[in-house]
Amino acid sequence: MRVLSSLLLALAAGASPALLPRVDAPAPFNSSLFKDLNVSRGLNYHYYAVPADTGKPTLLFLHGFPSTSYDWHHQVAFFQDKGYGLLVPDMLGYGGTSKPLDPQLYVSSLVTRDIIDILDAENIEQAVVVAHDWGSKTASRLANYFPERFLSYAFLAVGYITPTFFATPFEENLNLDTTKTITDWSPLGALEAFITNDTRIPPVDYVTPEERAIQMEAIRQGGLAAPLNWYKIARGTLEGQDDQGIPQENALIHSPVFFGAALRDYISVSAPIFVAGALVSSNSTVTIREYNSGHWVQLALPDEVNGDLLQWIGGLGLGLDA
Ligand SMILES: *[C@@H]1O[C@H](CO)[C@@H](O)[C@H](O)[C@H]1NC(C)=O
Ligand SMILES: *[C@@H]1O[C@H](CO)[C@@H](O)[C@H](O)[C@H]1NC(C)=O
Ligand SMILES: *[C@@H]1O[C@H](CO)[C@@H](O)[C@H](O)[C@H]1NC(C)=O
Ligand SMILES: *[C@@H]1O[C@H](CO)[C@@H](O)[C@H](O)[C@H]1NC(C)=O
Repeated sequence: MRVLSSLLLALAAGASPALLPRVDAPAPFNSSLFKDLNVSRGLNYHYYAVPADTGKPTLLFLHGFPSTSYDWHHQVAFFQDKGYGLLVPDMLGYGGTSKPLDPQLYVSSLVTRDIIDILDAENIEQAVVVAHDWGSKTASRLANYFPERFLSYAFLAVGYITPTFFATPFEENLNLDTTKTITDWSPLGALEAFITNDTRIPPVDYVTPEERAIQMEAIRQGGLAAPLNWYKIARGTLEGQDDQGIPQENALIHSPVFFGAALRDYISVSAPIFVAGALVSSNSTVTIREYNSGHWVQLALPDEVNGDLLQWIGGLGLGLDA
């Protein structure tokens, strides 16, 4: 959800082309478990699929902007090892998935149908969703359109986004504190100066040079024109209009919700709707965990996030049959 910081991250992270492995192959991913599916509307989805051990649920991981399934590499390593089923798609516009340039193709009613097509192709009746950034919007809409297909919902950094969120212009959803935070943090013209002056910021210490090279290569290969459609539909009217098709009775989530708040993600934290959304969204149990982290909480604090997710999933009493 943080276009500015995401772009800065992308621009600032210098990578040596010599280091670049294949985008979808590096450990802990097993390259033979990547698949491609021609979904019902004729677009290709590239995704990582690990079958679940008996009695274990399948976890569906949905990344945000501007990323790929690789955003989840710490979670894949952790949960794959424990026998959980995994479905980790490159979302529309990213990685090995189709990258259409028409914003209309990115609205939630269509993207959620694609995700359900993947579940159907993998014979997954119900899954646990774990989502970050714009992935949280898709997770929200999966709850709105296909609640019967999901056991529970985990939101990281960005919480549940209500069906009426995009009915009002995006800016009006951000309150004065948020506007002040953005203005203080990034006054008008600062990004242009940052780019034109070729400013470099030190890379974060929780991403290794090899990991950064993988992320950079994905962005270089795919470009940002397609991914920016996730923003275009939200700032224009397309998503708001599309969301009018959400059944009223599905406005609340009736399954357990986990919200992982990233305390130093200043936009998400200072936009109360992202936290409040997690609280009011559910007519069920809400588990909230707070992390002393910026926006990329699953990369910055993987041990804490993985441990909390494991405990939460373990406590759901899913009682899955073989
Ligand atoms: C990768 O997955 C394939 C297919 O399930 C399996 O045969 C192979 O042993 C796996 N490789 C590793 C390193 O786990
Ligand atoms: C995907 O499926 C559609 C039909 O739904 C078909 O027209 C199209 O050729 C397929 N594309 C590929 C690449 O297989
Ligand atoms: C950009 O660099 C120019 C030339 O060094 C300098 O005059 C200007 O103040 C810089 N702008 C910012 C915003 O740092
Ligand atoms: C919340 O769930 C209870 C039963 O678990 C149900 O009776 C009630 O109607 C639900 N409320 C809403 C607003 O969906």
